[in-house]
Amino acid sequence: MTTPRPETLAKLTPVLTKRWLSPDAWQIGTYEQLDGYAALRKALKAHPDDLIQLIKDSGLRGRGGAGFPTGLKWGFIPQGDGKPHYLVVNADEGEPGTCKDLPLMTHDPHALVEGVIIASYAIRAARAYIYIRGEAVHAARRLRNAVQEAYDKGYLGRNILRSGYDLELVVHSGAGAYICGEETALLDSLEGFRGQPRLRPPFPATHGLYASPTVVNNVGTIASVPPIVLGGADWWKSMGTEKSSGPMIYSLSGRVANPGQFECSMGVTLRELLELAGGMQPGHNLRFWTPGGSSTPLLAAEHLDVPLDFEGVAAAGSILGTTATQIFSDQDCPVYATYRWLEFYHHESCGKCTPCREGNYWMVRVYRRILAGQGTHEDLDTLLDTCDNILGRSFCGLGDGATSSVTSSLKYFKQDYLDYIEGRTAPKLSEKTLVGAH
Ligand SMILES: Cc1cc2nc3c(=O)[nH]c(=O)nc-3n(C[C@H](O)[C@H](O)[C@H](O)COP(=O)(O)O)c2cc1C
Ligand code: SF4
Repeated sequence: MTTPRPETLAKLTPVLTKRWLSPDAWQIGTYEQLDGYAALRKALKAHPDDLIQLIKDSGLRGRGGAGFPTGLKWGFIPQGDGKPHYLVVNADEGEPGTCKDLPLMTHDPHALVEGVIIASYAIRAARAYIYIRGEAVHAARRLRNAVQEAYDKGYLGRNILRSGYDLELVVHSGAGAYICGEETALLDSLEGFRGQPRLRPPFPATHGLYASPTVVNNVGTIASVPPIVLGGADWWKSMGTEKSSGPMIYSLSGRVANPGQFECSMGVTLRELLELAGGMQPGHNLRFWTPGGSSTPLLAAEHLDVPLDFEGVAAAGSILGTTATQIFSDQDCPVYATYRWLEFYHHESCGKCTPCREGNYWMVRVYRRILAGQGTHEDLDTLLDTCDNILGRSFCGLGDGATSSVTSSLKYFKQDYLDYIEGRTAPKLSEKTLVGAH
């Protein structure tokens, strides 16, 4: 394992992760000793509109994948409309490779609870929900415990810190469906319906939970709010790049010596992240990687120095997504990796729209054929044509995301496909996999 140089270590900017290694960081006593709930006290003295302006000024962008400006989203909530307003935290974290929200809720749940209270106060919500992935039992337990501690201390409930502001916070466990991370499917699921995306417009800002104005934000977005309230917009903007401000938790997995979460200023490169993670595993050389989960187009070794912010990754032809960098080496097969991701998308497709439901079903079958050594050159055209009919024609982002690894692996690693088709690579799947395939 290589040791990072001091100048690379200086790239670490622990803000959201700063308490994670403190003993019992999840307990309210520790949290309060380490700045906890100081931002809430400050926020409750401010006018809600000023808080929205602060978040706008900080340039905070959503950490759930799309990078939408958070202050702008809060500002869309109509005020004085007489309807209840809701804050819903998206803690579903289902994107393959993504592991930043669950560790945050496990190690530092009060950071999220405090962010929820401040954000709810800003948008004038009296009720907030955290929708957490059903399988995340440990994180949900920590979170529920933190919510109870916050109630006991008067940070939640009626007349919070004698400010006159009331807020109820509910932690709701989903049933573990990737589509329920899509914000409108999440709202349907929270209302007790089958989780499927809604037609937009109308948008959640006016017709969200129970057809009322709703903000849906990612865990990391909301946990960023207390530090911004305490440190100010300029401090937040002193990290990151001009259009992608602040720190970001990058989660590294795969063929790295020391996988895990590394919080750095936005714009750090994979070369630097790999150095922080102790380099590649011995005997492995970087071949391909996802910058932000399996829904983002693959990048290759030539992209080691791409700045990992929203603009830098877009300029390289991919998407920053959830900053889940999955690292693959020269001992991994991009065709097989793409097939495994497609199995996931096929399984998780909610079936509402034809391009995603049918397209993923058929692409899985084409991959099985190629990997079983029975592919044809025409199959590659079929894959590209199918992607062309899914991308931009699907009802939600799941369909679009499914095409990312297909088109990008064909762009960078077409030879790997040809090696299966022309018999130079031994089949990876047995012919039995093809039973039932047409
Ligand atoms: C299929 C699919 C799954 C998603 N899963 C998540 C998720 O697990 N967590 C999340 O925060 N956003 C997820 N999103 C994005 C949300 O729809 C939404 O953009 C996000 O929660 C907004 O929060 P933000 O503005 O704070 O980023 C998903 C989107 C799609 C299309
Ligand atoms: S794109 Fe897929 S997941 Fe999204 S609505 Fe269509 S079928 Fe459902």
